Amino acid sequence: MPEKILVTAALPYANGPLHLGHLAGAYIPADVYVRYQRLKGSDVIFICGSDEHGVPITIRADAERIAPQEVVDRYHVIMKNSFDRLGIRFDNYSRTSLPLHHRISQDFFLRLYHKGYIREESVRQLYCAACRRFLPDRYIEGECPHCHSPGARGDLCETCGRWLEPEQLINPRCKICGATPEMRETRHWFFRLPEFQKPLEEWQASKKHWKSNVREFSSGWFSEGLTDRSITRDIDWGIPVPLEGAAGKVLYVWFDAPIGYISSTVEWSQKQNQPELWRRYWCDPQTRLIHFIGKDNIVFHAIVWPAMLMAHGEFILPDNIPANEFLTIEGKKLSTSRNWAVWVDDYLAVFPPDPLRYYLSANAPENKDADFAWKDFQTHNNSELADVLGNLINRSLAFVEKHFEAKVPAAGELSGEDRAILGAAEQATREIGASLEDFQVRAAVGQLMDLARKGNKYFNDTAPWTTLKTDRSRCGTTLNTTLQLEAALAVLMEPFLPFSAERLWNMLNLPGSVHDRLWYETPKLRLEEYHPLGKKEILFQKIEDPIIEAQIAKLRGAS
Ligand code: MF3
Ligand code: ZN
Repeated sequence: MPEKILVTAALPYANGPLHLGHLAGAYIPADVYVRYQRLKGSDVIFICGSDEHGVPITIRADAERIAPQEVVDRYHVIMKNSFDRLGIRFDNYSRTSLPLHHRISQDFFLRLYHKGYIREESVRQLYCAACRRFLPDRYIEGECPHCHSPGARGDLCETCGRWLEPEQLINPRCKICGATPEMRETRHWFFRLPEFQKPLEEWQASKKHWKSNVREFSSGWFSEGLTDRSITRDIDWGIPVPLEGAAGKVLYVWFDAPIGYISSTVEWSQKQNQPELWRRYWCDPQTRLIHFIGKDNIVFHAIVWPAMLMAHGEFILPDNIPANEFLTIEGKKLSTSRNWAVWVDDYLAVFPPDPLRYYLSANAPENKDADFAWKDFQTHNNSELADVLGNLINRSLAFVEKHFEAKVPAAGELSGEDRAILGAAEQATREIGASLEDFQVRAAVGQLMDLARKGNKYFNDTAPWTTLKTDRSRCGTTLNTTLQLEAALAVLMEPFLPFSAERLWNMLNLPGSVHDRLWYETPKLRLEEYHPLGKKEILFQKIEDPIIEAQIAKLRGAS
């Protein structure tokens, strides 16, 4: 039985286009992992969608003076399109403004409500008299009560990463008009999170294999002691609270968004005409549920959402939550408001997707923040993709074209060197697989490049241009071996470099698609003797200095 795996990537807010921070945090590592699992033959589905509620949307709508629905309609399409062009291949990309999602979220809420896990309370909340509205958390700014940095938001201090309640802020201000808000009474619903502290702690105690950032974050929360979480808001954009007398109240976006993982899976089932198929994943304890997220989402995925799932009772809990750290841009914190960001569509207007996928994999913010620097991107492209991987393929295919009529030369008896390089491919298959099972994309892509380096060394050491004149059969054996290695490389590079892998597959004139190959059959994949090769192309173009300098100038000019 293949392993059943349900992979999700955090639902991005549909309030702006995608930038590299999004990609490095969740989407590239998730896509690499899923592609590997598909090649391995696992029963894997990859679920995502746009997060279309909450204050991030209404702030954008206010800024652009359009309706929230217009904001999400616009950015949902833009983001979906960018994901496609990057080869981030979800099985379903849904959106939380769908009626289906509203219904599933309301049912989820009601089930918790009827089980007694939700209580109502009158609370005092910050109200801006000038704007005549209750201020949602993100509309309030002030000094962080923990680390005392200014500019902390009502829900989160981005400096120390602590989750806040708006009334904890020192010297709070309305973000819209700058006035000092006042306290007013309003009614809200609260999720009884403390009831789940013990089960959560026990559950997480069994997750020794989780990354340390997630475990440490959670244990900090546990030792502070969990408190009831308010799960409704006084805004007019969101999912109505499905109770009598709750007019004007909507579910807090962080209550409904993770339910989007379920509703997107339901939508996927419906599209397959198997409306109950989603249950095979969500209701089967054999399924491994894996949430790829950025570190600002840890508390929701490691604590609140699992508690919601426990309270609900019908669904599985996450098996792992690989959370990445942040990506800085040219040494500075990424900021969309200051436009210190590299936008995916701007990148794709100039470069193909694979070099970016490669760079963000080789330089993934796995255990600490990583920096995106254009020069460094150029170096990785030129001296690794082009000079190592591309060069091996290019020169060997050119050689076969010129001296062996573009057909796979016959192999004579294999030498020790021949066997060693084929053995290295076999070993790399296992190592890359093991790294990816452990969510170590950075290590995995390093192992891939090491294999390509060994391939180049093998090619140099065996010097087919010499044996061509002295021992043609030996020369043919070297080329045959090199081409076998390249067939393996096509499969091994697919998770990271899917477009180039497919092109290499076609250059080798292999049947079908590289995406269909089974990972562990890679070492056995053989090109037949005299098999005609396909049309040769340059796999990776070098990037010249002026192109990179233009990108740097663009970034600096924009800030
Ligand atoms: N939209 C959130 C963000 O961009 C992530 C939501 S993840 C989900 O930070 F679990 F709620 F879906
Ligand atoms: Zn105000």
